[in-house]
Amino acid sequence: MIIGIPKEIKNNENRVALTPAGAQELIKRGHEVYVQHTAGEGSGFLDEMYEEAGVKILPTIQDVYEIAEMIMKVKEPIEEEYELIKEGQLLFTYFHFASYEPLTKAMVKSKSICLAYETVERADKSLPLLIPMSEVAGRMAVQKGANYLEKPLGGRGILLGGVPGVLPAKVLILGAGIVGTQAAWMAAGLGADVTIMDVNLQRLRYLADVMPANVNTMMSNEFNIRKLIQNHDLIIGSILIPGAKATKLITRDMLKTMLPGTVVVDVAVDQGGCIETSRPTTHQDPTFVIDDVVHYCVANMPGAVPYTSTLALTNATLPYAIQIANKGWKKAAQENAELVPGLNIISGDIVYQAVAESFNMEYTPVSKYLAD
Ligand SMILES: NC(=O)c1ccc[n+]([C@@H]2O[C@H](COP(=O)([O-])OP(=O)(O)OC[C@H]3O[C@@H](n4cnc5c(N)ncnc54)[C@H](O)[C@@H]3O)[C@@H](O)[C@H]2O)c1
Repeated sequence: MIIGIPKEIKNNENRVALTPAGAQELIKRGHEVYVQHTAGEGSGFLDEMYEEAGVKILPTIQDVYEIAEMIMKVKEPIEEEYELIKEGQLLFTYFHFASYEPLTKAMVKSKSICLAYETVERADKSLPLLIPMSEVAGRMAVQKGANYLEKPLGGRGILLGGVPGVLPAKVLILGAGIVGTQAAWMAAGLGADVTIMDVNLQRLRYLADVMPANVNTMMSNEFNIRKLIQNHDLIIGSILIPGAKATKLITRDMLKTMLPGTVVVDVAVDQGGCIETSRPTTHQDPTFVIDDVVHYCVANMPGAVPYTSTLALTNATLPYAIQIANKGWKKAAQENAELVPGLNIISGDIVYQAVAESFNMEYTPVSKYLAD
C-alpha cells in the first residue's frame, strides 16, 4: 500500500503520525511510505532520518495527498486539506466528528474512508488509541501542578515533596482512570501526600493494592470533596463520563473554602471540565486565577511534549496501520473487530451512529460495507 504522511498544519500541532522507526516497519513489509518535507521536525524527526529508513520525502502537502492510498495524520483535516482528499482514499487519524459539523459534511462529500483513532475500541470497551494521550496528560498534570504551586507563578509556594522536617504537599485527584492513575504515580514518586477519588469501588480496590503507601483512595462524593479541597494544595480533575459532559464536582462557591494559592489542573476540560470555573486555555496562556485559586485548563496538554506524544501515539497506532496496509481496510476490519467502530464515514455514508445522530444526518450500518 502507498502510505502518505502530511505535515500537520493545525495551529501549534507539532506531532507527526509516523516515526522513522514506524515507517521502517511498514517498508519492511513491502509498503511505500511518503512523508512531506519537515513533517517530523516538530517532534525531532528530520527528513534524513526518514530517508535512512527508506521513506521518500515529498516537497508539498498536495504531493502527499495525490500519491497516497492511506493518509495517516494526527489531527483532523482542516479546511485547506478538504479539497486534497480523493474519493476512496483512506484517512486514519483523530477526527472527533461529533464536535464539528463542517468536517463531517466535508468528509461525506469527499467520499473518502474515515477511520477515526478515537473510536477504535477493544472488546472491554477501552479505547486503545486514546489511552496514550491520557497517559501523557496525566503525567504532565503533576509536572504542571508542581510548577504552578511556586509562588512567582501564583501558587502557595509549597514544594510537592517537602524536605526532611517539612510535610509534603497534599494532592487530590478526582477520577482514577488512565489520567488519574498516571497522575497518582507521578505525584507519589515526587513524595507528595496523594488522595485519589473515583465512584468505581472496584477501581479504588485495585489502586489500593498497587499504589505506593503515600497514595490513599477515597470514594468520590460531594461530602468528601467539600472536605478535602479545604486542605489540599494541588487538585487534578480527571473524570470521564463517556459520551457526556463532565460533572461539575467543584462548584464556584467551593473555591472560597480552598487555601489561597491552591492549583487546580482540570485535565477533563476537553469534556467541559469537572470544576465549574474551568474554561479551556492554551499553552500560550495556560492559567487564570479566580478567588485566589490558580486554574490550569489546557485542552491539548500532550501538544507541549510532541516528542513523547508522537512516540506514544505511534506505538499504539502502528499495529493497526500494519494490518490495514497488509490487508486493505475492509479485510483488516473484517478480521479485527476493534477496527470496526473506528469506521466513521465510508464513501459518503456515515456509518457511526452517534455521529449521524449529532447532526440529524442519515445513518448507514457499517455492515453494508463489511459483508463479502
Ligand atoms: N486536556 C488534555 O489535554 C487531555 C488529554 C487526555 C485526556 N483528557 C481528558 O481527561 C479525562 C480523563 O480521561 P481518562 O482517559 O483518564 O478517562 P477514563 O475513562 O480512563 O477515567 C475516567 C474516570 O473517571 C471516573 N469518574 C466518573 N465520574 C466520576 C465522579 N463523579 N467522581 C470521580 N470519578 C469519576 C470514572 O469512574 C473513571 O474511572 C477525559 O475527559 C479526557 O478527555 C484531556
